[in-house]
Amino acid sequence: MSKKKEYGDFQTPLGLATDVCNLLEKIGLRPASLLEPTCGLGSFIFAGMKQFRTLQQILGAEIHSDYVKVLESQLQGLKAATKTRVVVADFFITDWNQVVTELPEPVLVLGNLPWVTNAHLSKLCSQNLPTKSNFQNRSGLDAITGKSNFDISEWMLIRLLEALNGRHGALAMLCKSSVARKTLFHAWKHGIQIEKSAMYRIECDTHFDAHVDAVLLVIHFRPGSWDLEAKLYSNLNDAELETIIGIEEGIILSDVSTYRRFRHLQGECALKWRSGIKHDCSKVMELIRDGVQYRNGMNQTVELEDTYLFPMMKSSHVANGVVGNARWMLVPQRTIGESTSIIAQRAPRTWAYLNQYAEHLEKRASVIYRNRPPFSVFGVGDYSFAPWKVAISGFYKKLSFQVIGPIDAKPVVFDDTSYFLPFQTQPQAEYIASILNADHARAFYESLVFWDAKRPITADLLRRLDLRKLAAEEGSSVQFQSLFGSEQSTQTCSLFDAV
Ligand SMILES: C[S@@+](CC[C@H](N)C(=O)[O-])C[C@H]1O[C@@H](n2cnc3c(N)ncnc32)[C@H](O)[C@@H]1O
Repeated sequence: MSKKKEYGDFQTPLGLATDVCNLLEKIGLRPASLLEPTCGLGSFIFAGMKQFRTLQQILGAEIHSDYVKVLESQLQGLKAATKTRVVVADFFITDWNQVVTELPEPVLVLGNLPWVTNAHLSKLCSQNLPTKSNFQNRSGLDAITGKSNFDISEWMLIRLLEALNGRHGALAMLCKSSVARKTLFHAWKHGIQIEKSAMYRIECDTHFDAHVDAVLLVIHFRPGSWDLEAKLYSNLNDAELETIIGIEEGIILSDVSTYRRFRHLQGECALKWRSGIKHDCSKVMELIRDGVQYRNGMNQTVELEDTYLFPMMKSSHVANGVVGNARWMLVPQRTIGESTSIIAQRAPRTWAYLNQYAEHLEKRASVIYRNRPPFSVFGVGDYSFAPWKVAISGFYKKLSFQVIGPIDAKPVVFDDTSYFLPFQTQPQAEYIASILNADHARAFYESLVFWDAKRPITADLLRRLDLRKLAAEEGSSVQFQSLFGSEQSTQTCSLFDAV
């Protein structure tokens, strides 16, 4: 089983490969050659040779020689076998530019690449990886924390895009929806000569017994063309157009036409979205109140001073608007990098507790905690302790902004799966939540959000909406002004960053 996982080996059922080829012919593809770069047992080779009468050459490549042998034996005696070649080849060391150049045009690159991520491969200690693994220049916290995880198929698709760039042909691949999008984004950003693109949803549960949002990605290449949109259809057969995704001003859009209606709301906002506190050790840092005591994630009961404890709301509570004070977070710092030694005097029991579990905290793998005071956390600042907040969960698939006020006279904090705006007063928070939950803001964000992403809502996405412009759109500029002051004061963030 682990070999199967290591090679992302989910062979496409012949029925699905046939449906795909049917669709490709219906949309006008008449390929002179077919390339299946990780052909496995060859479903796409058999379906393609049957569907496309125009084929002069068929080439399949696959890393597993036993698959190639089976495929070769099944080809024997078939009429199309004379124009078909199947080779054992490792995708990562194959010169795809060269391979594509040698094929007659239009070229159709067709198939289903391995479904596996680099993180999974490193867990399996697998070498089935591109040599340069930190591709796409992942940056920010993800790069620092080493979380930079990517799908191997994304890397492969980009190699295939490059090989087809400037050629007449098409690429048609089954892949995760997120991979299709990232591939298109890459192509659009890098000026790949695309004539048109589309995605057709496929039911992974039925075909692969896997619970993944997946599509057939189809990109048509023609020298001199440049197209920056892709249609998303509901399925392969009687497809209904769901939306058109695209790119504008370097932003990937989930709904181009809605974005165009609301793009005037875009801008840098003086109210800065923040993410919750990152501690990577919930068993120690998150506690449940039990009378006057607290219970940690190891089910141990401890007695701690209040000084460093704050009521916390998890992402699921933020998403569902459940406000309560059952859970508390130990926040040992008020700012990033602040010395923690003072806790020994201010709250000796808390200091003893942290030292008791020091080993757990020291074991945190992320490099962000290296060379920092013991028990450090991240994503903490004055804003974390603002009394009022408007918060949204990053993981849940709905745009719902909640107003959250103090509990037991203490500000509520969040873990790093939620985002929030900090406020000093309840009217400020309630007003901002009301305009964020209204139709204009919803439509604006809906035109940018991809609900199938692992974390659909991010600080980057939230920051795209200028709340002053939104207030104007809602006809409430005067209220905004009276709550937050002049243009000048919001531009300098004085109201928000200094809380
Ligand atoms: C998801 S399966 C799909 C197989 C086939 N394309 C189909 O649609 O039925 C992925 C295939 O990629 C092959 N594979 C994995 N790593 C590879 C590599 N580095 N080079 C070539 N093939 C590879 C696996 O052995 C497997 O057959």
